[in-house]
Amino acid sequence: MIARQDHPAGQMLADPNRPSFPLNAWYAAAWDVDVKHELFARTICNKKIVMYRRSDGVVAALEDACWHRLVPLSLGRLDGDEVVCGYHGLAYNSQGRCTHMPSQETINPSACVRSYPVVEKHRYIWLWMGDPALADPALVPDLHWNHDPEWAGDGKTIHVKCDYRLVLDNLMDLTHETFVHGSSIGDRSVAEAPFQTTFSDRTATVTRWMRDITPPPFWAGQLGKPGKVDRWQIINFEAPCTIAIDVGVAPTGTGAPEGDRSQGVNGFVLNTITPETDTTCHYFWAFCRNYRIGEQRITHQLREGVTGIFHEDEIVLEAQQRAIDANPGRVFYNINIDSGALWARRLIDRMIDAERPQQKQAAE
Ligand code: FES
Ligand SMILES: [Fe+2]
Repeated sequence: MIARQDHPAGQMLADPNRPSFPLNAWYAAAWDVDVKHELFARTICNKKIVMYRRSDGVVAALEDACWHRLVPLSLGRLDGDEVVCGYHGLAYNSQGRCTHMPSQETINPSACVRSYPVVEKHRYIWLWMGDPALADPALVPDLHWNHDPEWAGDGKTIHVKCDYRLVLDNLMDLTHETFVHGSSIGDRSVAEAPFQTTFSDRTATVTRWMRDITPPPFWAGQLGKPGKVDRWQIINFEAPCTIAIDVGVAPTGTGAPEGDRSQGVNGFVLNTITPETDTTCHYFWAFCRNYRIGEQRITHQLREGVTGIFHEDEIVLEAQQRAIDANPGRVFYNINIDSGALWARRLIDRMIDAERPQQKQAAE
């Protein structure tokens, strides 16, 4: 792993010839609790999908367009574990194969809709949007804090009307806390403290330590001890769209920067941002903590508190997308604080470029 900071000057916002996301990746499509034994429609990576949980608990994800006349299957109904189209009654099993056609005995062998590989892990339903042969469950991003018994937490989904990469940019640089979240977690020290960016072929990490500072109100409350603190933010990006942020504070001088966090409080802000379209996304987030984990009241308070904080981001991000749309051809300029976001975008572009010949073949 090589530490490096670089910030090329003006950069095109997006290469119009390059897709905005790779397809050969696991994308969170829903929280586990969102998908029940009923039809649930959602657009993921520009594809309309219908999901449902079979009676054995396994989640199925099918293309949401009937083979016959393309009516969305999500407008139909479930009959046992099969989807029945609401127009002329064609039925499909959970693999997308047609099992019934009205008024005929034989079924056209080509009658099927696409089914997507599904993995349920870390409390999310993940779909593989590209070549099914490459859908390796080991590639699901690590968000284990969501169900690890040593951590407690919960989260929500935000539908944001912006390119998913604007959310990644936002999370890869927490300087914005000082300006967007000044009343809660923001503090001048975030914008002033130095940071280090490192990367590998699938990950980028931004590490920032703020030593011997007065904790902002949120963290003072979580720690419950007076005095100055050492505060950390370690932003871990995993391509193409997952970011786990290790955050916390410990009383100054108790050894947190050296590795002993036992006197402090630690949280993980878990984020996975799935493109819905090129300019909208499903943002799944959770906040997990390793202190007072038996207190459901705290889980509730934190979830609602973070909801308010993230709403501040949502307003900025949607305004940013509107400005991008209104200024075609304009570029982004990059400064030191953008190094993490630049690496995230570079790793995403590499994934996209790696699958482009394959996409071209598929289109031919
Ligand atoms: S459109 Fe679905 S059965 Fe005809
Ligand atoms: Fe934010």
